[in-house]
Amino acid sequence: NSDKSLTGKTVLITAGPTYEAIDPVRFIGNHSSGKMGFSIAEEAANRGANVILISGPSSELSNHQNIEIFRVTSAKEMFTKVFEYYENADIAIASAAVADYAPKEIAQEKIKKSEDSLTIKLVKNPDILKTMGERKTKQFLVGFALETQNEEENAKGKLQKKNLDMIVLNSLRDEGAGFKGSTNKIKIITESTVTEFPLKSKTEVAKDILTFIEEQILK
Ligand code: C5P
Repeated sequence: NSDKSLTGKTVLITAGPTYEAIDPVRFIGNHSSGKMGFSIAEEAANRGANVILISGPSSELSNHQNIEIFRVTSAKEMFTKVFEYYENADIAIASAAVADYAPKEIAQEKIKKSEDSLTIKLVKNPDILKTMGERKTKQFLVGFALETQNEEENAKGKLQKKNLDMIVLNSLRDEGAGFKGSTNKIKIITESTVTEFPLKSKTEVAKDILTFIEEQILK
């Protein structure tokens, strides 16, 4: 699929981890590399889409002329940026590994080492994707799920709860799948279908995801 099949479409993509500050030098984060989201962005741009890529801290780069990149740090910043662009998007793909919780208070000064134990109170972050589902008008909405048990059932539940059109499931049980590496093994789940794909590079996985979305939009 090397034609410009997404010409005229605006695709909003979230990518990477979020970092939630504890104090001026420390944060809570995760091992997401941002590779999957950047690969989807590149492929969508190659297909002619106008891509808005909102990424948490990631060493991935792109200078594709169809991609506008916004770099954010925390879930709250990602939320704000997403909803500057969501209304106008035709397709929205949430591949970011957003932290579920953030420190309730960010210490103004570096926390000193003192007691043997230290408690940091966390509060729930906004669910960006769930909010996209609630505010859905015309958008074809795609989420990701990384499950360790009852994967398909949990992914289906998420599809419904977040009002998604499809969900991409990565299994942690599959070697080479997930978060950090450059390969991934996915299942695509819609209301009525489950489609399994073999282990591939994230570049190839991005093609499978976008081809699947195009088929759904056209039918
Ligand atoms: O519920 P769970 O975190 O497993 O859902 C994963 C999906 O939700 C991913 O697509 C992720 O990008 C999105 N998400 C989000 N904002 C959050 C948490 C998850 O957009 N705060």
